[in-house]
Amino acid sequence: MAAIFLSLVSFLLFSSTLISSNALSVNYYHQTCPKAESIIAKVVQKGIINDKTVPAALLRMHFHDCFIRGCDASVLLDSKGKNKAEKDGPPNISLHAFYVIDHAKKELETMCPGVVSCADIVAVAARDAVALSGGPTWDVPKGRKDGRVSKANDAIQLPFPTFNISQLQQSFSQRGLSLDDLVALSGGHTLGFSHCFSFQNRIHNFNNKNDIDPSMNPSFAASLRQVCPKHNKVKNAGANLDSTPTVFDNAYFKLLLQGNSIFSSDQALLTSSRTKRLVKKFAGSQEEFFEAFVKSMIKMSSINGGGSEIRLDCRFVN
Ligand code: HEM
Ligand SMILES: *[C@@H]1O[C@H](CO)[C@@H](O)[C@H](O)[C@H]1NC(C)=O
Ligand SMILES: *[C@@H]1O[C@H](CO)[C@@H](O)[C@H](O)[C@H]1NC(C)=O
Repeated sequence: MAAIFLSLVSFLLFSSTLISSNALSVNYYHQTCPKAESIIAKVVQKGIINDKTVPAALLRMHFHDCFIRGCDASVLLDSKGKNKAEKDGPPNISLHAFYVIDHAKKELETMCPGVVSCADIVAVAARDAVALSGGPTWDVPKGRKDGRVSKANDAIQLPFPTFNISQLQQSFSQRGLSLDDLVALSGGHTLGFSHCFSFQNRIHNFNNKNDIDPSMNPSFAASLRQVCPKHNKVKNAGANLDSTPTVFDNAYFKLLLQGNSIFSSDQALLTSSRTKRLVKKFAGSQEEFFEAFVKSMIKMSSINGGGSEIRLDCRFVN
């Protein structure tokens, strides 16, 4: 009873914060910083030239930001004094390329001081990362405010790669996102890389019957075991999330249907008829994937963080 009441309260809290996110608008900086987006795009582009892993990092950064405390740039804050920040929490190992956001912020502060929020920079940079990797582009609604709180322990609120479909559904629905959003946004795994520990559960001691997750393609599992042996000594060993890790395409969905996906949470998309149908649709049509991805990204990036300021330095509260 108490649990039902609590979840009702948190649902109401979530819905009211979601509704107030309607304040975002595509032309938000039209008067106050008309060049904001072209400045961010240029910085992202430069970042990619130096490091091809930048787009994956920026996309994951935005996801991480929005899923914890809403899209309020809490992911960018550095630990300070006794407070250990989100970015120093347990699943932080894939987070990087914060310097790209710092560069953009620096240029924006010169051009239009105190105007563009760090949370908006992350949202716009994630869009640019997708577009510059061959994916779709879209207008990003803006007007987010930056939050003043970031806690390492909050990072456990991110969905785990070991989640099954009902756990994933719950994690997404708590943030106003549907099963359809889950499938489209999981397509973000068309970019990037994972460390061994994030999929170790599938390739060693999977359960008491199977050493390897039987839903995996055996030759794929064997190749993962080669880079990630049981007692792995290579620091930063791991695997790309799909066959074209720097190209935003629908290869992830094709591979998923063949048992060649990295995480249990990817594989889980084939365990409900609704999500499986979408996986097949996106594997068959990149266009339909792109269209759905854009819709769901706009939804995810509108999860309101209830921030209160425009940070001057994205790593520190004002
Ligand atoms: C559905 C639930 C999700 C789970 C369980 C999940 C889990 C993970 C894990 C465990 C990693 C690798 C961490 C590591 O070992 O380095 C990862 C990487 C990544 N995720 Fe997800 N993720 C989810 C959803 C998303 C969403 C919604 C997006 C964006 C739309 C996204 C984008 C990425 C990207 C781009 C990477 C690669 C990062 C890099 O190479 O730097 N993920 N994800
Ligand atoms: C991740 O957290 C550890 C401490 O828990 C910290 O030393 C490391 O710098 C963090 N990584 C990033 C990319 O912030
Ligand atoms: C998912 O995992 C949870 C927790 O272990 C379990 O209670 C639930 O029954 C599982 N759901 C499915 C569909 O396997």
